[in-house]
Amino acid sequence: MQLTVFRGSPRTKRGNTETLVGDLIRGFTEVDGGSLDVHYLNTESRRREAAEAFARSEVALIAFPLYVHAMPGIVMTWLEMLEPVDPGRNVKLGFIVQGGLPEARQSRFVEAFLERLPARLGCEYLGTVIRGGVEAMQFAPAFLFRAMHGAFVDLGRELAASGQLDRQIIARLASTETLSRWRCGFYNTMKALGIADRSWNRMMKKNGCLAECFDRPYAPAPEDAGDRA
Ligand SMILES: Cc1cc2nc3c(=O)[nH]c(=O)nc-3n(C[C@H](O)[C@H](O)[C@H](O)COP(=O)(O)O)c2cc1C
Repeated sequence: MQLTVFRGSPRTKRGNTETLVGDLIRGFTEVDGGSLDVHYLNTESRRREAAEAFARSEVALIAFPLYVHAMPGIVMTWLEMLEPVDPGRNVKLGFIVQGGLPEARQSRFVEAFLERLPARLGCEYLGTVIRGGVEAMQFAPAFLFRAMHGAFVDLGRELAASGQLDRQIIARLASTETLSRWRCGFYNTMKALGIADRSWNRMMKKNGCLAECFDRPYAPAPEDAGDRA
């Protein structure tokens, strides 16, 4: 089987997407010696190459981090470049969405879009893997993530063996759907104390965009809003 993987993180090889996809590929190649093609989407030329690879693919996986409850702009820009494939080729298409915050629920909105995308592109939908709490991999002890890495390896093995993304493993990986009450209380307290926003504010300051952080560039212009009222 030929597997083509598209990695949609702007952090490319330093990112968490890379690590999780690496686990899946390890499991896949253990079982299937078939060819593997990997693409990044972080530059225009790479996106063009990746679009050509998509047209040739047999089983395709698109993996990306959740940025502000949505896919990164580089992924959307690339998706808009894709042409539908011939449905007779039975190309299979699946997705991996991973985020820093623990609850899976925030990825359900992008999942609803991803569920409809394969049909629009002439492909069969394989499913969407959702995993939260991933950014903690950068600083928390490795043993906390052993089960998660194992599940991604298993997912790769199953994909190679059956050509499908295993539903039970997908459910296992989604783990926490919503935050527990005590966790909400904890985050609300952090927010009230100004601790929760500190690192975001630092990042925005460093990038010179703190003053614009509440801008709404895609909000309807006031006259459009009036038309709709
Ligand atoms: C600008 C920005 C926005 C983010 N928004 C979300 C979000 O809405 N939900 C979430 O769970 N994680 C969010 N994250 C965290 C990333 O999804 C998380 O760190 C992810 O593992 C990064 O993957 P990567 O290293 O492959 O880029 C955000 C991170 C950044 C930098």
